[in-house]
Amino acid sequence: MIPKTLEEIANYIVRDGKGILAADESTGTIEKRFKSIDVESTEDNRRKYREMLFRSPAMAEAIGGVILFDETLRQKASDGNYLREVILDHGSLPGIKVDQGVKELESGSNEKITTGLDGLHERCQEYDKLGAKFTKWRAVIHVSDDLPSDKCIRENMNALAEYALIAQQNNMVPIVEPEVIMDGSHSVERCHVVTNQVLLILFEMLDKKNVNIKGTLLKPNMVVSGTENSYQATIQEVANKTIQCLKSSVPDELPGIVFLSGGQSDLDATAHLDAMNKIGGFKWKLSFSYGRALQQAALKTWAGNDSKLEAAQMAFSHRAIMNMKAAEGQWDKSLEN
Ligand code: 13P
Repeated sequence: MIPKTLEEIANYIVRDGKGILAADESTGTIEKRFKSIDVESTEDNRRKYREMLFRSPAMAEAIGGVILFDETLRQKASDGNYLREVILDHGSLPGIKVDQGVKELESGSNEKITTGLDGLHERCQEYDKLGAKFTKWRAVIHVSDDLPSDKCIRENMNALAEYALIAQQNNMVPIVEPEVIMDGSHSVERCHVVTNQVLLILFEMLDKKNVNIKGTLLKPNMVVSGTENSYQATIQEVANKTIQCLKSSVPDELPGIVFLSGGQSDLDATAHLDAMNKIGGFKWKLSFSYGRALQQAALKTWAGNDSKLEAAQMAFSHRAIMNMKAAEGQWDKSLEN
């Protein structure tokens, strides 16, 4: 039974330790990923790679939703069925990225504002008809000694709230993704402060626009050290700080928090999620919406070689199951072997 209401859809996606596969790389980003394995980014190669993921054995068990790029929502699988139907056949829901990337916040600024509100209502009407059950919009927040600016946070969170309302008006659950970027020399404490501030303003804006929080999912970064910082927070520190940050900014009624991986290694992304769920003591489901941390191993295994498609499915399935265990606080490093 496909869930119908916003609240049913949101809860369905994160039920029983399930999480989200973020396979919504834009044409430019997937080209970069394919370049790393020396594969040309043709429409057919993108179809083949993504169909491999969607038909992998762990889909039904571990993946409650898949975020797609526009092309994939309209694309057919090798057997002539739509890829979105392949996803539904595995008991998972198709979703769609609806933002249109970022531009300079203002001329000469190092900060970004996400675009895509123009015509969003009309695009959402079509995506709803095509069968998308949820949507995603990503805002990007860079950290340095004097960034982010208040303007950057407020304008991005306002756009996220406006987007969320439009998605809900079109029967689709909004995933709101405010990503505080890991790149930089900032400390884990600074990441904590900025993430907290961003989330407080986001929920203030969602509330102001009367977005139904029970029919919304949050996709945040974890609280981690900047990649160039000389001190890298431990797994336990990241888990403690992230939980503390979320508890002070996210309402209990939100059904689920699905983290982005943001450049973390596959193992770190799993270990962090597991450590948080082992701490417990929160009302929301705490799960994953990983792109790179779910796909990296499969992408490398496939490397454009048709004889490796099955091995790539096994690599993807392993990561998906490991993250499902982590979403239940049941992961252990020994399971990786
Ligand atoms: P990563 O997990 O690779 O950060 O991707 C998640 C995503 O959807 C970014 O918008």
